Amino acid sequence: MKALVVGNGGREHALAWKLLESPGIEEIMCVPGNGGTATLPGCRNLGLALDDFEGIARVALVNNLSLVVVGPEQPLADGIADYLSQQGLLVFGPTQAGAQIEASKAWAKALMAEAQIPTAAARVFTDAAAAIAYLQAQPLPIVVKADGLAAGKGVTVAQTRAAAVAAVEAAFEGQFGAAGHQVVIEACLTGQEASVLAVTDGDTIVPLMPAQDHKQIGEGDTGANTGGMGTYAPTPVITPEILDKVQEQILEPAIALLKQREIDYRGVLYAGLMISPEGEPTVIEFNCRFGDPETQVVLPLLETPLEEVLLACAEKRLASLPPLRWRAASAACVVAAAGGYPDSYQKGMPIAGLDAAAAKGALVFHAGTQLKGGHIAASGGRVLGVTAVGETFDNALETAYAAMAEIEFDTMYYRRDIGFRVRQS
Ligand SMILES: Nc1ncnc2c1ncn2[C@@H]1O[C@H](COP(=O)(O)OP(=O)(O)O)[C@@H](O)[C@H]1O
Ligand SMILES: [Mg+2]
Repeated sequence: MKALVVGNGGREHALAWKLLESPGIEEIMCVPGNGGTATLPGCRNLGLALDDFEGIARVALVNNLSLVVVGPEQPLADGIADYLSQQGLLVFGPTQAGAQIEASKAWAKALMAEAQIPTAAARVFTDAAAAIAYLQAQPLPIVVKADGLAAGKGVTVAQTRAAAVAAVEAAFEGQFGAAGHQVVIEACLTGQEASVLAVTDGDTIVPLMPAQDHKQIGEGDTGANTGGMGTYAPTPVITPEILDKVQEQILEPAIALLKQREIDYRGVLYAGLMISPEGEPTVIEFNCRFGDPETQVVLPLLETPLEEVLLACAEKRLASLPPLRWRAASAACVVAAAGGYPDSYQKGMPIAGLDAAAAKGALVFHAGTQLKGGHIAASGGRVLGVTAVGETFDNALETAYAAMAEIEFDTMYYRRDIGFRVRQS
């Protein structure tokens, strides 16, 4: 079969790579893809924009593609799955109604309240004065969140009341565009963060291997939040007992309520979790798609052919899919970013050492790269996700860092402490 992957990040490179691993896949097309998918044997980039739903439908129909896999949240929130299904295509990715679980934090909070899913206590505000008045009596730290999609920049964990007030004002002054017309203010949770991505057909929900992410730019998890600077799976913070709780208390009730609301949800439901020191999982947020860079460590461990899983979701027969098979191994991903990210950064720098890195046994997933005149150049803030699988966590991490040492581009920056929590434990 042939399939289409929509998106241009490391997640989409990993999806395309994993799909092509299985003998059932003849060809992958990627819209618009990146330098990694451009150079991946069996994969072809198509120069269409992510919001060109008509163009995407046309190429999928003309090429007889059996499945469209949507990577990023924005097109899902804009209704790409609804549009493509109306054109008769099979889609992995929720409808616009389902994507609200990520695209509106207030909507997600209301869903969690109704389904009695454990999450931080929260209030929603539509004007600054009321939000600021409410803040005065709240214990610190306190979390202020712009309601909508804000590319990872809409959340402030405020240590002082002044910082909380500033975050509220920034949102209502339009710093996050329409995303800030509503603000969620919630209690601050403590513990360790982890991600459980689950695949669902809207009836059945199956968790994937739990992963942990380093969101901050600086070593020791300090500094500004980013899209993610490194990940690993599995993570010792999610024990089998905790994963059972996530399934029973979070994933199952969420899917049951979406179904009750007649929302067609076929895709990934990603639970961003805080695990308390007592081992209780609480939802920080839901995402409506594969995580990036969690996908880069989860997929290399999956033994079941990926297209079987995605098709079972899209065709609503996940209950009859045999249990997922996983490699008894660990995976780690270290992100190489352009210096300055997540603020302003350069683009266009040529990247050297990709073959040497692969020769060390790593999978180098491209995030922000482009193929130009036969060479790979940086084109985004997060440039590469250097990933390795190993028998143990330490082996995986060692290989990833050994491969990273082969790679070079001007202003390149990466954290040298990915996995420090695991190494401490
Ligand atoms: N209630 C909370 N308690 C503690 N930390 C939080 C809370 N909500 C969010 N955070 C922190 O802020 C980060 C971003 O928040 P999140 O809700 O995941 O928004 P987004 O990913 O859309 O930016 C989280 O990964 C977490 O580190
Ligand atoms: Mg998040």
